[in-house]
Amino acid sequence: MKNLVLWRSARISTLANKGWGLIDNGALLTLGEHIEWVGPVNEMPVELRERVATEHDLGRTLITPGLVDCHSHLVYAGNRASELELRLRGISYEAIAQAGGGIRSTVAATRAATEQDLYDVAEQRARRLMAEGVTTLEIKSGYGLSLEAEARCLRVARRLGRDLPLSVQTTFLGAHTLPPDFDGRVDAYIDAVCEWMPQLHAQGLVDAVDAFCDHIGFSPEHTRRVFDAARALDLPIKLHAEQLSNQHGAAMAASLGALSCDHLEHLSEADIPLMRRCGTVAVLLPGAYYFLRETRMPPVTALRAAGVPMAVSTDHNPGSSPSLSLLLMASMACTLFRLTPLEAVQGITLNAARALGLHDRGQLVRGQRADFVAWNLEHPNELAYWFGHHAVMRTIQGGRERP
Ligand code: NIG
Ligand code: FE
Repeated sequence: MKNLVLWRSARISTLANKGWGLIDNGALLTLGEHIEWVGPVNEMPVELRERVATEHDLGRTLITPGLVDCHSHLVYAGNRASELELRLRGISYEAIAQAGGGIRSTVAATRAATEQDLYDVAEQRARRLMAEGVTTLEIKSGYGLSLEAEARCLRVARRLGRDLPLSVQTTFLGAHTLPPDFDGRVDAYIDAVCEWMPQLHAQGLVDAVDAFCDHIGFSPEHTRRVFDAARALDLPIKLHAEQLSNQHGAAMAASLGALSCDHLEHLSEADIPLMRRCGTVAVLLPGAYYFLRETRMPPVTALRAAGVPMAVSTDHNPGSSPSLSLLLMASMACTLFRLTPLEAVQGITLNAARALGLHDRGQLVRGQRADFVAWNLEHPNELAYWFGHHAVMRTIQGGRERP
C-alpha cells in the first residue's frame, strides 16, 4: 500500500543523541501525523521507498523539529505599557503590583472582555508565534481568577488548539495572584482554587496546574495545597518558582514530581540535585529577566553541571515579558544566560516538550510527531544567532504543511 509522504532534499538537524544530529542530503518519510523514517536519502530502505504516495522537495532547506513554547500567558485583555514607564522611573515591579497594578490590572481588563474579544487577541498572538515555527504552545489561565473567568480563558486556549494548525496545552494558573474580591482572605482563595480545579478539569479544560510561589504570589504552604488538589486529579504540576525571591518552591515542587520549575533566578544551588533526581525541567525565561531589568541570573552553570534539562520560553504576558518571539528568547538565553546555541535550541524543542510532559515531539526520529520547520539557514546554530528577524520557510504540523 502506498501511504507514505516523502520530504526530500533537506539538511536535517534531528537533535537525536544529545547533539545537533545533522544529516546532509536527508529525507523524512511521514505516515499521517508521525515520522516513519528519517536518514540520508541514499540509505532509505527500498521497501519504504516503494510505499511513497506523495513527494515534497524541501529545496535544500535546513529542517529542525517544530518549536515548542512551553510557558505562555497568551489569553488576556489590554496591555501594561504604562508600567514600563513607571519601572523606568525606578518604581519596582513588586511595588506596582502591591499598589493594585500588575497582574490585578490585567485581571480587571480580562474580566471585562468577552470570550470572543479574548479569542481574537489571543489568536493574533498565537499566529505570531506560529509564523516563527512554533508548533506546540502552552497557554496558562491566570488573568480571570474567578471560576467563570478562568473557564473563559481556558476555553479560548482550547479553541485555539482546535481552530489553528497548532498543538495547545492548557495550564490552570488560578493561584497567580490574590484577586481583589478575596482581599485579606488568602486561605479562602486557595480553597476556591482547589474547588474550581475539578470543575474545570471535568470540562476538559486543564492539562496541567501551575502556581506563582513568591512574596507577591503565594507561600509554599498555599502552593502545596494547590498541588495536592492537582495530584488528587492526577494532573501534572509546574511552578513559577524563585523569580523574585527564594521561597524554596522549586524543591517543594520537584519533590512532588513537577514537570518544570520556571524562572529560577533566585534558585539556591542546594535545591538543584533534587530537581535532577525528580526529572524536573528548569524553564528559563530570559524575556522576563530582560524586561524587568533583573541582574541576578538563574544558576545555569550549576544546572548544567547537575544535568538538569533546561528549556527556554517566551513567558509571553503583558507585565513581565510582552514578547512573541521564541527565537529572540533563544538568542537571549545565549547572550544573557550563557547557554550554548545547542542548549538554546534544545531548550525551545526537546526540553520544552519535556517541560510539558510530552515525549512524542522535540526530535526528528521514527515514531515522533511529524512537526518540523524548514529554515533558510545553513546550520541550526543560526537559530540562536540571528535576532529580531527569522528565516522560516515552511512549517509542517502533524505531517501536513501549514497553508
Ligand atoms: O511569569 N510571575 C508571574 N507571572 C508572570 C507575570 C505576570 C504579569 O506581570 O502579568 C510571569 O512573569
Ligand atoms: Fe509566567
